[in-house]
Amino acid sequence: MTHKDSAGQAPTNEAPVQGECAEVTRPSPGPLRDQLFAEPLSERGLFSFNEAVASVFPDMINRSVPGYTTVVSMTGVLAARHARPNANIYDLGCSWGASLLSVAKEPACRSCQLIGIDNSEAMLSAARAHIAQFSEGKQITLQAGDIADLQLADASVVIMNYTLQFIPIAQRNTVLRRIREAMSPGDVMILSEKITLQDTELNRHLVDLHHDFKRQQGYSDLEISQKRDALENVLIPETREAHFERLRQVGFSRCDVWFQCLNFASIIAIA
Ligand SMILES: C[S@@+](CC[C@H](N)C(=O)[O-])C[C@H]1O[C@@H](n2cnc3c(N)ncnc32)[C@H](O)[C@@H]1O
Repeated sequence: MTHKDSAGQAPTNEAPVQGECAEVTRPSPGPLRDQLFAEPLSERGLFSFNEAVASVFPDMINRSVPGYTTVVSMTGVLAARHARPNANIYDLGCSWGASLLSVAKEPACRSCQLIGIDNSEAMLSAARAHIAQFSEGKQITLQAGDIADLQLADASVVIMNYTLQFIPIAQRNTVLRRIREAMSPGDVMILSEKITLQDTELNRHLVDLHHDFKRQQGYSDLEISQKRDALENVLIPETREAHFERLRQVGFSRCDVWFQCLNFASIIAIA
């Protein structure tokens, strides 16, 4: 079993038989193929970042989020432009640490502390095993923590890729305000999210196109619909306008979308 890159792309292991992907007792879990929703589920459960999800996560996110590889690789490039020497670079909801590995490859970020925070122990455990395979992983510190109780300091770069969408909407303002308070003018936040469109017709069209993307990636209609049901009321997307307004409200001086593929956008926000 080999890891192709920091984003954990192209898992080379054989697809496990159904149910095997929940088995995570192997000493060095690799990125298995995501088949978690391939069989009819007896009851509808809410999606969570448990051991089964953590074990297949790189394959799941690569085949579910159009443009994910570009966002991860450009996160390092964007961070390099804003990294202040000896400052902190945070990745909130770091999962397997793909974005921080991208940052760690950048010479301009070498004197910074790279800190990944996640509240899923299963995800952090997979991240430790993954990051240990890269020499630049030594620069990365992983911390268990809830984004709702953030204690950030001297943050020259804050990365939040596909994580704010899992925080209750009522808490998002407070979370972003705390982030902004830990930053100085000119620092950057990279905020990637699934988004909705104000135009409901066009929104439906993009949702359909996203499902087409997932089919193209090998997911069946059953997998797509069971995962969509599990994520309902767990992943709450907002419009890009709602994100812009909140970012300005909490004190970011400018923000815009630097990348979008279908209904997944990445926003750059300058403190
Ligand atoms: C979709 S994944 C993020 C993917 C990751 N940023 C990447 O680019 O590969 C969301 C992550 O956020 C974490 N998470 C969700 N809610 C959280 C919270 N309240 N505090 C900390 N981490 C959280 C989950 O455990 C999960 O690892």
